Amino acid sequence: MTPETGFRLRHKHLLGIEPLESEEIRLILDTAESFLEISTRPIKKVPTLRGRTIVNLFMEPSTRTRSSFEIAQKRLSADSLNLSSSSSSATKGESLIDTAKNLEAMAPDMIVLRHPAAGAAHLLARVCRSSIINAGDGAHEHPTQALLDAFTMRQKKGRIQGLEVAIVGDLLHSRVLRSNVFLLRKLGAKVRASGPPTLVPPGLDRLGVDVKTRIEEALEGADVVMMLRVQKERMVHGAFPSLREYFNLYGLTKARMKQAKHDAIVMHPGPMNRGVEIAAEVADGSTSVILDQVTNGVAVRMAVLYLLSGGAVGELAA
Ligand code: CP
Repeated sequence: MTPETGFRLRHKHLLGIEPLESEEIRLILDTAESFLEISTRPIKKVPTLRGRTIVNLFMEPSTRTRSSFEIAQKRLSADSLNLSSSSSSATKGESLIDTAKNLEAMAPDMIVLRHPAAGAAHLLARVCRSSIINAGDGAHEHPTQALLDAFTMRQKKGRIQGLEVAIVGDLLHSRVLRSNVFLLRKLGAKVRASGPPTLVPPGLDRLGVDVKTRIEEALEGADVVMMLRVQKERMVHGAFPSLREYFNLYGLTKARMKQAKHDAIVMHPGPMNRGVEIAAEVADGSTSVILDQVTNGVAVRMAVLYLLSGGAVGELAA
């Protein structure tokens, strides 16, 4: 069901998908549709957020999320400031709260935060006046990634309801998995997941996920195959014997894709480990929508920025 004209987000912050109602998710996806075309214009800019100041505070590395938030802000005419952990006084021991309070003293309207600790965005939302957008907090949530994934599924498959989505890989460390599970379940998709037993979080089945031991079982009849990165940097002990063995047991190959529906699409949030969780010929193949996800990420982040600044569906300036 499409939200009615004038419908707004009920939240000041975007901290995760878990607190959102399904109609709010649809509102973001529908608003992103309106923004998609702006990136195809010769002059890729609208005045929607002129005069707003947005801080991008990235305390963990990022290519896609950081650059697409920055591009989204530029296309909406907002003023943005970029700060990373290496270029901030965090290197001198300043706490996250002190960093945020000092940035707030310069009166930004929003802070986009990526942080290695789960709950970091929630912490800032408690102490800050600005709207906080979670751009990934530890292994907890990555809401704008799940929104752009859903947008891409809807674009390619025409719906979310009833889709069979297989999510495969390092499930334990994945904020992308958690946000996608919350979103897909709220919009009526079915989710199966598979990964090495050492990389399956306890209680995943209680979130409504059908956990499969073998990748082939997860892929069987899937409409969407979403591969997750092996997050070596978050593994204290080796969770599997070798990367070669991982690829042999859980890597997505052309042969394994035959288990999925003939028109299934392949997704990956990036960055990819080619030859570990996905074969290069699948990542670059005709069923891959991985770069479409990146393109759509700009429109989805424009929609999130617009809606959190008080915008409503059906009120967009051309
Ligand atoms: N998908 C994603 O979050 O990628 P980055 O880490 O490059 O932002």
